[in-house]
Amino acid sequence: MALLPILQYPDPRLYTVATQVRVVDDDIRRLINDMSDTMYAAPGVGLAATQVDDHRRVIIIDISETRDQLQVFVNPVVVAASGTATCEEGCLSVPGIFDKVARAERISVRALNAQGESFTLGADGLLAVCIQHEMDHLEGKVFVDYLSRLKQQRILAKLKKQKRQIM
Ligand code: NI
Repeated sequence: MALLPILQYPDPRLYTVATQVRVVDDDIRRLINDMSDTMYAAPGVGLAATQVDDHRRVIIIDISETRDQLQVFVNPVVVAASGTATCEEGCLSVPGIFDKVARAERISVRALNAQGESFTLGADGLLAVCIQHEMDHLEGKVFVDYLSRLKQQRILAKLKKQKRQIM
């Protein structure tokens, strides 16, 4: 079991655009294992490799209540999207902050699984939100970036204060 440090907003490394995975090999599977240990320990429902300072296109999600339904997406691409839904989001890189973001309501995503096999998945509800949120990380985007400048300033001030209290 390996717990990886999670980059905290506004760490500039969160703004890195991830690169395509060329082969899903043991090295990628090790990354997936370490990411899942880290996500479950946090605890969180999703994690992008970007957040653990690995800039390859890998995201993982588990929105199940039983915490045993890990979904792995390597090189995910949204191939269809429709509707709009606004949902309150949070992020392991922005602890304690939750705010509403508008996203596509239904998406169809194509990706590779941990065995390197291609699959296409239709998603709506929380799963669709999570996939879009985690895929944004691969583009160097954090959900806070969708909020107003004023809200972003408030969030930065709050995080600074939290950090001082921890130290
Ligand atoms: Ni996030």
